[in-house]
Amino acid sequence: MLAIIVHGGAGTIRKEERIPKVLAGVREAVMAGWNELRNGSAVDAVEEAVKALEDNPLFNAGTGSVLTLDGKAEMDAAIVRGSTLEAGAVAGITNVRHPISVARMVMEKTDHAVLGGEGAVKFARLMGFEEYNPVTEERIKQWKELRKKLVEKGEVRHWKKLSELIKEHPEVLRSTVGAVAFDGNEVVAGTSTGGVFLKMFGRIGDTPLIGAGTYANEVAGASCTGLGEVAVRLVLAKSATDFVRLGMDARGASEAAINLATKYFGPDTMGIIMVDSKGNVGFAKNTKHMSHAYMREGMKEPEVGI
Ligand code: GLY
Repeated sequence: MLAIIVHGGAGTIRKEERIPKVLAGVREAVMAGWNELRNGSAVDAVEEAVKALEDNPLFNAGTGSVLTLDGKAEMDAAIVRGSTLEAGAVAGITNVRHPISVARMVMEKTDHAVLGGEGAVKFARLMGFEEYNPVTEERIKQWKELRKKLVEKGEVRHWKKLSELIKEHPEVLRSTVGAVAFDGNEVVAGTSTGGVFLKMFGRIGDTPLIGAGTYANEVAGASCTGLGEVAVRLVLAKSATDFVRLGMDARGASEAAINLATKYFGPDTMGIIMVDSKGNVGFAKNTKHMSHAYMREGMKEPEVGI
């Protein structure tokens, strides 16, 4: 039973007119992944689906990543193979087009699991990834507006709790993209993000931390989206796969994982997508929106939702 699910991030989409475009974006990404999955590789499927989302400036990953407090796009991405527990991630990488592909190279070409900052950029160049500016005009405009609001209220100087900031400014949470696929043999999970708006320089979220925002093993895989600090503290992607190990399917495990996030950190914090090794898909969120799309064997069209 082949299966793939993608997400375009959990949070609140304030402008309703964006929603159809976001749904078209996740549909396109799931089909890019599905076409690879039919050729037999969940790794290729996850990479292609995430690349499609990274290339779409509507989503906060690759082109269109949100900006740090000092106006830079510092991106995180990870990919994990469930059958071997091989994993590759980049944290705080800059000036590349497809962080997910660099993460895959870390998995396949190095003995390490995570490369960060300048080292990750240096590795990307060694692997032939060209210099690329992922910062869009729209993100610069949003960054200026948000920074102005925060500076006027003195919150930048007194910024102690990211979650408090997000409660007041839900647009800060610009979320993430991800894909999880099962090719009949293994589950693979991948996630990519620009992080959260106005994050401190050097801040690493859940996405590249294996087990926090991205995880897969022989029973299931998961990709998280939302406030990264929540998924880090709950080791949420790994916890979600533990629920499958205890007997739940991907759907039940997704709901259990989000219940955990809500219990400890409240609503408006997290979303998750999952696939288990029986080819079941699951998704859950405690935010207003989480764009997603999935395809399973036997379906003619993807199921798309928000
Ligand atoms: N979930 C993405 C982040 O917080 O960086």
